[in-house]
Amino acid sequence: MNYIYKPSWQISENEVTSESVYFGRRNFLKSLIGIGLTSSLLPLTGCQKSASETALENTINSPKLMAITNPKFAQVDRPITEELLAAKYNNFYEFGGTKNIWLKSQKLPLDNWKIEVTGLVKKPRIYDLDTIKKEFELEERIYRFRCVEAWSMVLPWLGFPMKKLLAAVEPTSEAKYVRFTSFYDPQITTGPGIHLGELPWPYTEGLRIEEMANELAFLAIGIYGHELPKQHGAPLRMVLPWKYGFKGAKSIVKIEFLATQPATYWNTINASEYDFEANVNPTKPHPRWSQATEKFISNGPNISWQIKETLPYNGYGDYVASLY
Ligand code: MTE
Repeated sequence: MNYIYKPSWQISENEVTSESVYFGRRNFLKSLIGIGLTSSLLPLTGCQKSASETALENTINSPKLMAITNPKFAQVDRPITEELLAAKYNNFYEFGGTKNIWLKSQKLPLDNWKIEVTGLVKKPRIYDLDTIKKEFELEERIYRFRCVEAWSMVLPWLGFPMKKLLAAVEPTSEAKYVRFTSFYDPQITTGPGIHLGELPWPYTEGLRIEEMANELAFLAIGIYGHELPKQHGAPLRMVLPWKYGFKGAKSIVKIEFLATQPATYWNTINASEYDFEANVNPTKPHPRWSQATEKFISNGPNISWQIKETLPYNGYGDYVASLY
């Protein structure tokens, strides 16, 4: 039996992380002293927490999830990004055009959330979070995450492979594409352009059905051992580690199976900068910057952006190159 029936977050970190990860974290803790973020991580130092630090910590204080660690995705060659850094460096344009939307995104209303799965399927369904937890065995997967803006992280997701959803709803033979739609309510999502009608809200993304069936394609309901914080796209988001991060729509309300390729948010805004496929590719520059390297955030954007070479398909070519 290969599986570990405990999320790695419940095991002391030197049991589950490589030596470099472990010592990277210790250095990170030391470096945090310089930016006043240590109070949550070093409760015995007596440092005073600011209201903002406490508020940020509260956002990640969501219910714990039990999951099996998928041994194929238990580790990558880089340390896991520190949780509080990942929680305060986000893209969620529904709540603003800066990275610093963690507080504004707390307006997202999660009560009675429904995810409609519809279109060209034999068994259309409406899921809520409880049904998802009951029907899909949760896995933990540590994946590289690469944004089109040329920064990257390593994140531990909890969720289930998209192919299990395909098995549950049974797409018909006409279904060739899938559209994922994010939550949108102009009374609540008050980001740029929401009220001007200039941007193609709601946020949508799309995949070919073969991409959705790939082993890597994942639907996450959690991160770092607990339910997704709102800024990461609660209660359910897409995770596609071989593609740029914008393909991973957050806070999904609808999944539709279609015969033709759907229009998507970024591709509609600027197709030459955000192509539909959006596979991580070091040899294909973004029109405004190179994609040959990336700034890897493990210890914090203000402390150590490590420059790393971008890997084709973000290092996941063995799983996905045959699709293209
Ligand atoms: N999903 C929605 N609904 N709205 C967004 O603005 N931004 C995308 C993606 N999914 C976005 C979204 C982009 S550009 C990135 S890089 C990732 O979310 C960021 O995910 P994170 O904030 O959890 O790291």
